[in-house]
Amino acid sequence: MNTLTMRAGTCEYPVYIEKGLMQSIPERLKDMFPQSRIAIITDDNISALYAKNVTAACEAAGLRYDLLTVKPGEGAKSADVFARLLSKLAQRSYNRADVIVALGGGVVGDLAGFVAAVFLRGLRCVQIPTSLLAQIDSAVGGKTAINLPEGKNLVGAFHQPSAVFVDTALLQTLPEPDFADGMSELIKYALIRDADMFIQLEQSGTIHADSDILSSWITRCLSIKRDVVAADEKDMGERMLLNFGHTIGHGIERLCAAQKRPMTHGRAVAIGMAAITAASERMGLTKAGSVQRIAAVLQKMGLPHDISAYDKDEILKGILVDKKNVADKLNLVLILEPGQSYLHQIPGSDAKSFI
Ligand SMILES: NC(=O)c1ccc[n+]([C@@H]2O[C@H](COP(=O)([O-])OP(=O)(O)OC[C@H]3O[C@@H](n4cnc5c(N)ncnc54)[C@H](O)[C@@H]3O)[C@@H](O)[C@H]2O)c1
Repeated sequence: MNTLTMRAGTCEYPVYIEKGLMQSIPERLKDMFPQSRIAIITDDNISALYAKNVTAACEAAGLRYDLLTVKPGEGAKSADVFARLLSKLAQRSYNRADVIVALGGGVVGDLAGFVAAVFLRGLRCVQIPTSLLAQIDSAVGGKTAINLPEGKNLVGAFHQPSAVFVDTALLQTLPEPDFADGMSELIKYALIRDADMFIQLEQSGTIHADSDILSSWITRCLSIKRDVVAADEKDMGERMLLNFGHTIGHGIERLCAAQKRPMTHGRAVAIGMAAITAASERMGLTKAGSVQRIAAVLQKMGLPHDISAYDKDEILKGILVDKKNVADKLNLVLILEPGQSYLHQIPGSDAKSFI
């Protein structure tokens, strides 16, 4: 088993990474929280696949638990669903000693994490991420949130988990488009901080959910996130590197949503990473040949990389309303070459030349 220790401010918590870890998690929870009740929050897809085994293992471990399910998808990160979960905990008299377990992808992790952050002013939370995106990224770092009709992740809190359990065997049931989306973020980690991992990606064949190399790559992504978050828990500086490809990616996501042909986040980020690198390479800010290497890896993983079919003025509009941009300055994350990233600030008026 790989174990990492995550640090954020004065808080420290373990991340365990192992194929097949799931079966032993209830026993480990019983050891960690012997007197507590456990509210397992999950979605209907995960519940259909895993609830039977998980609840049997909880019973065998002597855990007192409740299983609370929500509908799958981004719609679950709503004020209504959030309030309904809080009410359920109140009706079942959960108290400060009890624990929330988030069993699911990034949606469940963000939602259940936010429930844990605010119920009775904060319960402990354990994350059991089930999607590739959640395993390499969203389950660690302590960001929790729900959406408002006005925008994504507008209400939330920083609330670090007590522990994170990553079982890579769970990825074998993840639908292929969600797996490819997670691969896009995995490639992003290699590009911003891990030249060796990027070379492995270049040299590997197509990666599947049961590929042996995945556990080691997930561990490397989590180590990068650990280092970046430790340096910048509240997302004001270094952590912006994690947004590589996201500025243009968000613009594309908004444009596609407006045109009623939604594009997934991972695919939009894939195009964003290639597009920003094409621009920075043209401007001499990135080593020549980098964009060709990125496009080849994205293509191999079944991800798009070509921005030419999208209306650049419309993408720009989306970018300029992005909440991460301060005043008329645009903070961009660029790579020097695959494996090395840096922050670069430009005036908003120069944004068009970067698309
Ligand atoms: N907190 C953070 O730091 C952070 C970072 C990045 C993204 N996010 C958030 O993460 C969310 C996206 O997460 P996601 O991509 O995991 O989406 P998701 O949680 O919606 O999961 C994608 C789909 O896969 C299904 N699924 C998940 N694991 C499965 C498994 N093992 N087997 C079968 N089906 C499975 C889910 O039911 C869902 O239908 C967004 O809301 C985003 O804002 C948060």
